[in-house]
Amino acid sequence: MTCLLDAEEVTVRYGSLAALDGVDLCVHDGQRHALIGPNGAGKSTLLNVIGGSTRPRHGTVRFAGRDVSRLGPAARARLGINRIHQRPAVFSTLTATENIVVAALPRTIRRRRWWPGGSGRLARQRAGPLLERMGLTEVAAVPAGHLAHGQRRQLEIAMALAGRPRLLLLDEPASGLSATEVGRLAELLAGLPREVAVLLVEHHLDLVYALCDTVTVLRDGRTVAAGTPDEIRTSPQVRRAYAEGVS
Ligand SMILES: Nc1ncnc2c1ncn2[C@@H]1O[C@H](COP(=O)(O)OP(=O)(O)O)[C@@H](O)[C@H]1O
Ligand SMILES: [Mg+2]
Repeated sequence: MTCLLDAEEVTVRYGSLAALDGVDLCVHDGQRHALIGPNGAGKSTLLNVIGGSTRPRHGTVRFAGRDVSRLGPAARARLGINRIHQRPAVFSTLTATENIVVAALPRTIRRRRWWPGGSGRLARQRAGPLLERMGLTEVAAVPAGHLAHGQRRQLEIAMALAGRPRLLLLDEPASGLSATEVGRLAELLAGLPREVAVLLVEHHLDLVYALCDTVTVLRDGRTVAAGTPDEIRTSPQVRRAYAEGVS
C-alpha cells in the first residue's frame, strides 16, 4: 500500500544538535498513527517538517504522491495537511461558530463560495455538523475565550476539520486537560471520519493505545521502534527509551 504521507531521511539540526537524524515515516490513508517518545525526542520537530513550518537539512516529504518538500504550511494545508499546535489557537472574541467560519474561509474563497459572515444562517448550517462532531453544539454561540480549555481544544480540531484535511497532525492534544476532558477527547478523536488520517503526538499512552493502529517511537531524533500498540507496549527498547527520560 502506498503512503499518503511519506517522509524520508529527515534530518533537522540546531547547531550541533540533531533534533532529527534520518527519520523515515509513512502514514497511510485513514490511518491512526501515533508518535511517542521522551521529551526532546524530536516529535514536534517532525510534525513541523511535515506541516511545512520547519525546513529539514536533508530529506523529502511526499504527500499524496507529490513532493511537497519545498511548499510552505499554507500550500500544504491547501493540499490537505492540517496541524494542531501544542497550545490551542482560536480567536477568543469570536464565537465557536465564527471560528469555524474563519477557518473554512481559504477553502470557500478558493471555491468562490463566500460564506455570508459568522452570524448568517448559511454559516451556522455549515458549521453546525462540525460543532456537533466535536461536541460543541451547546456552546456554538459562546465566544471561544469563554470556553473551558478542553472545549477550546475541541474547537481547534473542528476548525482543522473545516479545511477538509486528509491528514491531521495533532501535537499533544490532551496536554493540560483534566482526566474527564481527556476521556471526552479520546471519544471525539475515535469518532473522526475515516477519510482523515491522524498523526498523533501524545504522552497519554492510554489514549494512544486506544486510538492508534500504528505507533512510532522516537528518541534523540531517531526511530527506535515502530509497530502495533501491542508490540510497542511490550518492547524492551521502548521501555528503555522511556525509562531514561519521559516527562
Ligand atoms: N527552534 C529550536 N531551536 C533550537 N533547538 C530546538 C528548536 N526546536 C527544537 N529544538 C530542540 O530539538 C530537540 C527536539 O525538540 P522537539 O521536537 O520539540 O521534541 P519533542 O516534541 O519530542 O519534545 C530538543 O532537544 C529541542 O530542545
Ligand atoms: Mg513537543
